[in-house]
Amino acid sequence: MCGLCYIPGFGNECASEDPRCPGALPEGQNNPQVCPYNLYAEQLSGSAFTCPRSTNKRSWLYRILPSVCHKPFESIDQGHVTHNWDEVDPDPNQLRWKPFEIPKASQKKVDFVSGLHTLCGAGDIRSNNGLAIHIFLCNTSMGNRVVHWALSFLLVPQKGKLLIYTEFGKMLVQPNEICVIQRGMRFSIDVFEETRGYILEVYGVHFELPDLGPIGANGLANPRDFLIPVAWYEDRQVPGGYTVINKYQGKLFAAKQNVSPFNVVAWHGNYTPYKYNLENFMVINSVAFDHADPSIFTVLTAKSVRPGVAVADFVIFPPRWGVADKTFRPPYYHRNCMSEFMGLIKGHYEAKQGEFLPGGGSLHSSMTPHGPDADCFEKASKAKLAPERIADGTMAFMFESSLSMAVTKWGLKSSSCLDENYYKCWEPLKSHFTPDSRKPAGPN
Ligand SMILES: [Fe+2]
Repeated sequence: MCGLCYIPGFGNECASEDPRCPGALPEGQNNPQVCPYNLYAEQLSGSAFTCPRSTNKRSWLYRILPSVCHKPFESIDQGHVTHNWDEVDPDPNQLRWKPFEIPKASQKKVDFVSGLHTLCGAGDIRSNNGLAIHIFLCNTSMGNRVVHWALSFLLVPQKGKLLIYTEFGKMLVQPNEICVIQRGMRFSIDVFEETRGYILEVYGVHFELPDLGPIGANGLANPRDFLIPVAWYEDRQVPGGYTVINKYQGKLFAAKQNVSPFNVVAWHGNYTPYKYNLENFMVINSVAFDHADPSIFTVLTAKSVRPGVAVADFVIFPPRWGVADKTFRPPYYHRNCMSEFMGLIKGHYEAKQGEFLPGGGSLHSSMTPHGPDADCFEKASKAKLAPERIADGTMAFMFESSLSMAVTKWGLKSSSCLDENYYKCWEPLKSHFTPDSRKPAGPN
């Protein structure tokens, strides 16, 4: 299918022309007096003009009309999108949500934008410091509606594939794949069934591949497995107007324009949307004893200005071998200065076999204790430590942030998905303390 080809690589300088217009990219310069095919040149800057080369991000778009051709933006219904982190009192408890309910298409048509629900977040949009986690629940394509998002986000579909139209081309993103739409990029999403997923939105920073340090030059998410769309355009007049929705300073605005915004015939640059298949993640873990910390599963990171501290990391728990000797193999009990939101794309998470379900989530905020439930502890403490497959058919993930996130009113109340009994999964844990014997009672 034309338009569903991709350019492999992460953060590279790329160039792409729609094959219907060969030679659409100007040669030797960005902004000729008259562009090939009489297109308009428009630069999309994702970093300050003055950023060092290693962090400078921009692309040049050659389009039928520049994106400035629209009527004024006006405020629209905010739905369940918010950046107000003081809607309800903070809740320091371990929180878990049942699968978020997708509206039935037969009852109400809901597209991606109307189906956005802010779950939690922290920080300040105006000063470009913070993050938000949203859940999208939709059943209808966006049609002649496009979103112009002022912040970067990482999209994790959990149920239903997404056909994402962007100014750079089209991407098909299926569950177990992710995509990143960077600041200011316009997009529209077609869906094919009742569809659900998670969004990690970061303010003022970009997602990067984590440094590998002693791991070496290869491993984790390899750069060549990231896929960038190729140029595709439509020269389509829209009677009645195409709606451009702008999420600006956390609020939704809409403007009309007469043409499809997907009118970019060619582009070049290093600032693009991209997607990635989580199956391609090269898992690295302990082959001796004990655990590596879960940062070993980091796919992408959005760094803060503090060295080694992320605004948010995107971390996954893929299928792999567990081989650690003399080790309690599930995740250890812990308290973390970082906040951990977890979601489940499919299968069962190893530390919670029960009520942590695909399409649900959990939040363990800064310094909130958590760990395996009582069943998991009992089984793993007695298990024979042969090499075993872990998490086959499963993909859990974590958005981990250095910010302490507030949960919205929708998250705590109106979603009606909060599991009031979550804390009970640890209640059966009992003391095994044997003060008269150092020797463990188990197989160790
Ligand atoms: Fe944790």
